[in-house]
Amino acid sequence: MEKKTIILYPSPGIGHLVSMVELAKLILNREPSYSIIIFISSAPYSTGSSAPYISHVSATTSGISFHHLPVLVLPPNTFSSFEEIAYKIPQLNNPNLKLALQTISKESSDLKAFIIDFFCTAAVEVSSNLEIPTYFFFTSGSSAMCQFLYLPTLHETITQKDLQDPNTYVHIPGIPPIHSLDLPKVLSNRSTVLYKELINTANQMAKCSGILINAFETLEPKAVKALKEGLCTPGMPTPPVYCIGPLIASGDKGNGNNAHGHEILTWLNSQPSKSVVFLCFGSLGTFKEDQLKEIAIGLENSGHRFLWVMKSPPIDDKTKRFLPPPEPDFNVLLPEGFLERTKERGVIVKSWAPQLAILNHDAIGGFVTHCGWNSVLEAICGGVPMLAWPLYAEQRVNRVCMVEEMKVALPLEESVDGFVMASEIEKRVKELVDYESSEAIRDQVKIMSEKAKTAVAVSGSSHDALTKLLDGWK
Ligand SMILES: *[C@@H]1O[C@H](CO)[C@@H](O)[C@H](O)[C@H]1NC(C)=O
Repeated sequence: MEKKTIILYPSPGIGHLVSMVELAKLILNREPSYSIIIFISSAPYSTGSSAPYISHVSATTSGISFHHLPVLVLPPNTFSSFEEIAYKIPQLNNPNLKLALQTISKESSDLKAFIIDFFCTAAVEVSSNLEIPTYFFFTSGSSAMCQFLYLPTLHETITQKDLQDPNTYVHIPGIPPIHSLDLPKVLSNRSTVLYKELINTANQMAKCSGILINAFETLEPKAVKALKEGLCTPGMPTPPVYCIGPLIASGDKGNGNNAHGHEILTWLNSQPSKSVVFLCFGSLGTFKEDQLKEIAIGLENSGHRFLWVMKSPPIDDKTKRFLPPPEPDFNVLLPEGFLERTKERGVIVKSWAPQLAILNHDAIGGFVTHCGWNSVLEAICGGVPMLAWPLYAEQRVNRVCMVEEMKVALPLEESVDGFVMASEIEKRVKELVDYESSEAIRDQVKIMSEKAKTAVAVSGSSHDALTKLLDGWK
């Protein structure tokens, strides 16, 4: 008998790849006889090397194999954002994708599903022509899913001018009213390529065979209810939604930076329980020099212990913006004497730290986060209360939901241009680490970390959602 085959199609970049591998492992855990093929496409910018990770997975997980699509050459510097390139790559890859899908369907007449990343929308054209059931894997939360699926409706019902009005709140089924400024920035200009890609993706998602979400139902019950009732795609049914999370990558992404990670954990071992505030803003989160200084002053004045993962400020030089940034220079970026004055209670690390291990360390008392969904899930599973400092994409929507619905985070007040004053950082860090002022979110995040465990355990909601998905492939 032929093996049941599933094909996964991530965007380039180690983060996307790791999410898809975790999904593959989840499926294989339940259906070890399946064959899962992960398509790898190359990116014309640095995404960190995936090769060691791929060989590690190949060597340690039977059932997963990788298929490399041919290397693409893109015209340099004609794109205005990472997202635009991320959409472009699968478009250019479609001929290669078609060949690969045809070959695999010939070899295996039992191709059950093609599961694609958010940015791989272009692939739908190919897979639907070949009549392969196509699913999206959405790596943000259910609330963000509501907002995203509702985009075409927002496009029809609200003018761009209305959205730019600073007094507008947008009403989206399943989530609290969202201030216009908290919507993803790309929505403020409907003439851009990226805006059109997003609308197209939302339309394609609404028609696909199913949407897998890396979330669990009890974390965002209202959002899940709205999705299941079809409220976010008015006038048409919403495809089946499967909340199968939290899926959290266990490894260190083959980063190989273990000695460095080890040092940080050793330092944490010597800190009191729940005393250290951890600051980390994701792989793309950067601040300008003046904001970095302001963070330093806020941390120093808070008097609390801290562990800060610092990246260099963004580079203005357009020819360099897709290259990996240089290591931050503490002498330039920090106030004079800062390291000396805080050496007893603070550590700053350059560019990277083993976030998952840190969030699960008993010394961590709070997490200042950019509200990227993987970080949010990791903090929730580690039972760590958060201070929400969103930077881009759907992160501001996440913040609203984290603060108002999930109640696992404190907000941070920004000025209109997004700058955060040292005094605000000081005040919020104190609130976060101080037991009494953060008791409510501390308790809530503990409850949610328990609910996360229940969801993925046998007969939990995420376990059941996966069963339903797998049953459909029987
Ligand atoms: C909106 O996007 C278009 C196309 O990229 C660009 O030409 C225009 O300047 C943008 N408008 C604003 C107000 O940013």
